[in-house]
Amino acid sequence: MSDHTNVEIPAGFEGRDLLTLLDFTTEEIQTLLTFAEQLKQNPHQNMLPGQSLGMIFENASTRTRVSFEVGMTQLGGHSLFLSPRDLQIGRGEPVKDTANVLSRFVDAIMIRTNSHEMVEELATYAGVPVINALTDLYHPCQALADLLTVKEKKGKLEGLKAAFVGDGNNVAHSLMIACAKTGMDAALAVPEGYEPDPDVWKEIEKVAEENGTRLELTHSPADAVKEADMIYTDVWASMGFEEEQAKREEAFAGFQVSEELCANAKDDYMFLHCLPAHRGEEVEASIIDGPHSYVYDQAENRLHAQKAVLAAVMKK
Ligand code: CP
Ligand code: NVA
Repeated sequence: MSDHTNVEIPAGFEGRDLLTLLDFTTEEIQTLLTFAEQLKQNPHQNMLPGQSLGMIFENASTRTRVSFEVGMTQLGGHSLFLSPRDLQIGRGEPVKDTANVLSRFVDAIMIRTNSHEMVEELATYAGVPVINALTDLYHPCQALADLLTVKEKKGKLEGLKAAFVGDGNNVAHSLMIACAKTGMDAALAVPEGYEPDPDVWKEIEKVAEENGTRLELTHSPADAVKEADMIYTDVWASMGFEEEQAKREEAFAGFQVSEELCANAKDDYMFLHCLPAHRGEEVEASIIDGPHSYVYDQAENRLHAQKAVLAAVMKK
């Protein structure tokens, strides 16, 4: 099935990797968002006929797996779910060999793993585009969907203020990059000891300075959400940190996105969460299930944003 409206794949992305949004210019991110909006209106496009996406998942996933898989189908292509339990990489086959061999079969590789370094190595040796579907450092596909959701609900990005309250993690890094790239002011409130990666933060500061956006790192959630247009949070213990759950619950006391905290934001603030969420921990149920929350639209937008990336980088 193909929709009648002809949507054009933007040029300039062919063969490129998406490891972090730092690799894309503001204009390129805006182009991908516009393309994603067009695909959302016209979902069935035979843009990748006969092409295959290899999807390596070293960690669990609901949204990422389903949206990439459905996305490839809607674009006329095919996807393969590859678990390290079944792949030889899980038994110690070098990343270099895996990258080279997979590149002989598939037209792009999507990977979720704890190690960003491993994804960089994979991209070095792969002869096809590599898409980061979450590492310890970044979650660029999530951030694209986040931008798409804000743009859709607020009608613009530039000049808005985003606040992330919680762990200075992969999702926080990518959101801060996405904001700085697109003209949004951003504040990140974390408990002491849970600051973002210092090297990544330096990169974000550089982007914010180049684009003239405000960027704040604070230990005060109330300061961060002051006058915010969008409030974001994520789990306190990311994948790979589950054993720190109890310690983190203590450290993150006072960092819950609650009704009381959100009262500091603009009246029409929107609440976002990458999901999965823990109600009663990082967010009060009345917030995530309340009228300011767009978390399901945000989850749906993973599909549209990633289809834009897939079609653009896999274009032959
Ligand atoms: N937000 C996100 O990446 O969800 P999954 O872990 O379910 O893919
Ligand atoms: N920060 C979370 C995001 C899950 C989508 C994690 O890495 O587990």
